[in-house]
Amino acid sequence: MPLVCLACVACGKYGAPAQPVETLKSVAPFPVGAAVNPYLLKTNSLYYAVVATEYNSVTTENVLKFNATEPQLNQFDFSGGDTVLSFAAKNHMRVHAHNLVWHQALPGWVLNFSGDSLAWENIFKTHIQSVVAHCKGKVSSWDVVNEAIRDDDGKLRNKDVNPGDGSIWRQHLGPDYIARAFQYAHEADPGALLFYNDYGQEWNGVKLDSMVAMVNRLKRRGIPIDGIGMQMHIGINTNQANMKIAMQRLASTGLLIHISELDVSVNPSGDTNIVYNDALQSRQADMYQLVAQTYISTVPKAQRYGITTWNVGDADSWIPHFYHRKDWPLPFDSLYRKKAAYEGYLRGLKN
Ligand code: XIL
Repeated sequence: MPLVCLACVACGKYGAPAQPVETLKSVAPFPVGAAVNPYLLKTNSLYYAVVATEYNSVTTENVLKFNATEPQLNQFDFSGGDTVLSFAAKNHMRVHAHNLVWHQALPGWVLNFSGDSLAWENIFKTHIQSVVAHCKGKVSSWDVVNEAIRDDDGKLRNKDVNPGDGSIWRQHLGPDYIARAFQYAHEADPGALLFYNDYGQEWNGVKLDSMVAMVNRLKRRGIPIDGIGMQMHIGINTNQANMKIAMQRLASTGLLIHISELDVSVNPSGDTNIVYNDALQSRQADMYQLVAQTYISTVPKAQRYGITTWNVGDADSWIPHFYHRKDWPLPFDSLYRKKAAYEGYLRGLKN
């Protein structure tokens, strides 16, 4: 008997050949992921279904960050993380864990901590190794260090120099804290792939140069770094040539390249009267298609760790909250219906 589509049986067209339904993961030649939120996985069955159907990789959006996992000194909380890990295990998905070392998402006790360099090293190492050990065997990879490089001069963020957006880790641990973070993570889970993750490579040449140089230095020293995350919080006007150059330069390091936090803003300038009309939707679809195509045509197959969008539906996106503006940056709308952006992404992943 030929394969039949159950939906066709139900609607009376019994005998029509089954049309396999295309999903992002079924067409992509590499893993496609979404950052996910355990609260939505637990409370919204549409969200659960669309993540399980469309993606084969998930990133922990907020729940493995420092303030979530170690809210008090030496008191660890993995409740949110474990929800995501068990969801992924149940649905046979890869987990990319985010993140161990960042200048943001720090609990008050770290911001107020006082101690000598040994005491700082101790909280740093203990945090990294406790969190990595907890997730060992359940995650494939880690963003070990996030956003360590400054936008304006490509130097390391340092709270001494930039009180507002500097790194407390660089301040207390010196410039080699990055290398040590990778070593500590590797000791705790030698099987996990370890990434440096940052944003702006597609618009900031100074930062891109600095990142490539830093990664190459780490590699030359034998520091266990396996990949680079390009966050790619981009907009509909993002420059195609610069995007390609960034992927080329980062891939020239030989490391895995993860587009780790993709979203495409339709309102980067924060127009309060914006209407999300057909023209904007179609430009956004073109940009999703272009990102996938550029990744495929630029990053060698063996170095493609995949593309991950930063959450799933527009209502879940961080952009409107964080930047206080109207926006619709993701492939699904707030009811998890596929948008033009989804269709563009699908087209790009197919070729
Ligand atoms: C964002 C989350 O999506 C928000 O929910 C949270 O309020 C702030 O952080 N770069 C990163 C991510 O590496 O961790 C950030 O995630 C988005 C920018």
